[in-house]
Amino acid sequence: MSIIIAIDGYSSCGKSTVAKEVAKKLGYIYIDSGAMYRAVTLYCLRNGLAPGGVVNEEELRLHIDKIHIRLVFNPALQKHETFLNGENIEEEIRRPEVANLVSPVSIIGFVRDALVKQQREMGQNKGIIMDGRDIGTVVFPEAELKIFMTASPEVRAKRRYDELMAKGVHVEIEDIIHNIQDRDRIDSTREISPLRQADDAIVLDNSNLTREEQLDWVLEKAEERL
Ligand code: DC
Repeated sequence: MSIIIAIDGYSSCGKSTVAKEVAKKLGYIYIDSGAMYRAVTLYCLRNGLAPGGVVNEEELRLHIDKIHIRLVFNPALQKHETFLNGENIEEEIRRPEVANLVSPVSIIGFVRDALVKQQREMGQNKGIIMDGRDIGTVVFPEAELKIFMTASPEVRAKRRYDELMAKGVHVEIEDIIHNIQDRDRIDSTREISPLRQADDAIVLDNSNLTREEQLDWVLEKAEERL
């Protein structure tokens, strides 16, 4: 039997790292729902829909049906890639310009409706692990396994910093901390689908866990539900 695994939590908690590894072990599809919000954000930036950092909602509404997002696993590179209208935008959506605008984009109701609809379609046949903010609460309230991940802000900032530096994107650690704090605040206080722990989610604090330890922890919980 296949199940749905929902992983929610603050940004840079390592949700995607563990989710990808679990997907590989179980032969499941992995979906990074944050990449979908980032893709819409990049579309806004490229099309002048956020002048001065303020999203023009009315304009975006006219464009929303023209935004086609695909998430594909590239077996040659052993890597998940995000496509926006046929173009590989995986690298671009990780940039700070996108990170700085993604929270305001993701509070827009019609954006969420469009993306949640696609996410549910992706989970139709189960055998899926999806990470985000509202997966266990809104997208798949019936998911068999719900995990709420946390880690200390310092650990999260350091991880995001190392990740960006490894990609050659130069940033200041203070800017990362500010971005993380801002996003935490917006993600958890927004009116629509705020980040919150589902009542039946189990908490995974990975501040002091190795990759292997957290992978084993999730696999054990998944196996109990298979
Ligand atoms: O997981 P991430 O940092 O790549 O997500 C980017 C942003 O997208 C995050 O700040 C909030 C938003 N998001 C959301 O609102 N709902 C989701 N299910 C996933 C992400």
